Amino acid sequence: MVKHLNNPVFSIISKLAAEQNVQAFAIGGFVRDIFLRRPSKDIDIVVVGNGIDFAESVGKKLKVKVSVFKNFGTASLKYQDLEIEFVGARKESYRRDSRKPIVENGTLDDDQKRRDFTINALAISLHPDNYGELLDPFNGIADLDNKLIRTPLDPAETFSDDPLRMMRAIRFATQLNFRIDDLAVSAIRNNAERIGIISQERITDELNKIILSAKPSIGFKYLFDTGLLHKIFPLMTALHGVDYIDGKSHKDNFYHTLQVLDNICETTDDLWLRWAAILHDIAKPPTKRFEPGHGWTFHGHEDKGARMVPKIFAQLKLPMNDKMKFVQKMVQLHLRPIVLAQSIVTDSAVRRLLFDAGEDIESLMLLCKADITTKNEYKIKKYRSNFELVQQKLKDVEERDKVRNWQPPVTGNDIMELFGIKEGREVGIIKNQIREAILEGEIPNSRDEAIAYTIAKGAEIGLKVVGKP
Ligand code: CTP
Repeated sequence: MVKHLNNPVFSIISKLAAEQNVQAFAIGGFVRDIFLRRPSKDIDIVVVGNGIDFAESVGKKLKVKVSVFKNFGTASLKYQDLEIEFVGARKESYRRDSRKPIVENGTLDDDQKRRDFTINALAISLHPDNYGELLDPFNGIADLDNKLIRTPLDPAETFSDDPLRMMRAIRFATQLNFRIDDLAVSAIRNNAERIGIISQERITDELNKIILSAKPSIGFKYLFDTGLLHKIFPLMTALHGVDYIDGKSHKDNFYHTLQVLDNICETTDDLWLRWAAILHDIAKPPTKRFEPGHGWTFHGHEDKGARMVPKIFAQLKLPMNDKMKFVQKMVQLHLRPIVLAQSIVTDSAVRRLLFDAGEDIESLMLLCKADITTKNEYKIKKYRSNFELVQQKLKDVEERDKVRNWQPPVTGNDIMELFGIKEGREVGIIKNQIREAILEGEIPNSRDEAIAYTIAKGAEIGLKVVGKP
C-alpha cells in the first residue's frame, strides 16, 4: 500500500497524526481506485477526532489555504494537483452534500459502515504506528475481485440513509461492469419510490454518469428491472414490450433503444449524441398503430419525438440550450439517412439532408449507423453498403454544391433592389423558389445562376428589373 502514498502530503499527514495523537485514514473512492488502477486526484481523509482542526494544521504545514465548512464538519485544501477533504469519523451516514449538520463523532468502524458500498468503505491508515495498513472490515477487496456492488449494512438501511445510493449502486455497476448483490437489488426494488425525495439534479447527475459509461445498457436494465426507471423516466419504460395482432408483432423498442445507445457509445463520447440515441424513438408508443393487412406503424414518431424533447429536458433538468436543440434535431432527422440507404440515392435527396443537418451531419450519420440493429445478416450488409454510398455522395455533393453551411446566394435585399420592391410576400416566395431550385439541382449553388433564376421567376409574377443587386 505504501507505494501508493508517494505524494509528500501523506507523510506530512502521518507526522501530524503522531504529534496530535489522532488516527487518520485515506478512505473511499481514492482507496478503491488504487485497486482499480484508476489514479484519482480527490482524496478523502477521515480523522478520528476533529477533522477541521486537523485540516488546519495540515494546511499550516503545507502553507496552503484551507476552506472550512463548519456545518458539515469538513474542510478541504488543494495541494499540487490534489484536492484533499478532511472529515471527522462519524456515526451517521456520510453524504458529501448532505444539508444535515454532523453532530455525532464516531470510530473508524462506525464511519466505514455508514458508507454506501463495501468497495467505497476501504481505508488506509496514515498513522506511523500502522502506516499503509489496509482496513477492510466488510470484505471490499473480495467484492472488487468478484466485481460486486454490496452495501456494508443491510441494504435497506444503507439506501434509506440516502436513497440516491440506489442510483449510485447502478451507476458504479455500469461504470465498473460489476454486478449488484441480489439483496441490494431487491432492496432497490422495494424502495424505488423513495427516490422521489431526492432532487432531480442529483438523479440526473447519476443518470448522465450511467450514460457516459462504456456500456450504458447495463445500467438501464438495472433501472428498469428494479422499477427505478418507472419513477425517474417513465416515458422510456413505455418503449418496453411487444404487441401482437393477427400474428404480427413489432420489435421491443426499449431493448432496441438500449442497443442503439450501446452502439453509439462505441463511436462517440458525446453525452448529447448519446441522449439522442436514447430519445430517437421516444414517440413510438404514442404513434403506434396497427394497420390491418400491413402491420405495425409508427408514422410521424420523429416529428412527435422532436416535439417531446424540450419537455423531457425540462423535467430531467437537462440544459434548455443548444444541447437540447441538437438532440431535438437528431430525433427529428434520424430516419432520413436510413431512408436514403434503403433506396436509390438521388443527388437532391442528399443535398436536402446536408441542408437540414448542416454542421451536425456527421453526428446524424453516427446515430443512423447505430440505429441498424437488425439481426438479419443480409439486411445488415445491404444497409451498411448503401450507407457507404450515402456517405460518399454526401462528400461529393458537399464538395460541389457547398450546402452544408448554406447561405442563400441571393438575399432578400438583393431581390428588393433588383425589382425595386419593398419587403413582403413576394420576396419570401422568390427566396424559397431559389432555395428549392438549388436543392433540387435545377440550378447550381452560384450567385450568377441564382440571379438569372431570380429575374426569370420575377418575370413570371410581373416584376421588372429596375436595379442592380
Ligand atoms: N459516499 C457515501 N454515500 C453517498 C455518497 C458518498 O457513502 N451517497 C461516500 C463513499 O465512501 C464514497 C465517498 O463518500 O467513496 C466519496 O463520494 P464521491 O466523491 O461522491 O464518490 P467517489 O466514491 O469518490 O466516486 P466518484 O468520484 O466516481 O463519484
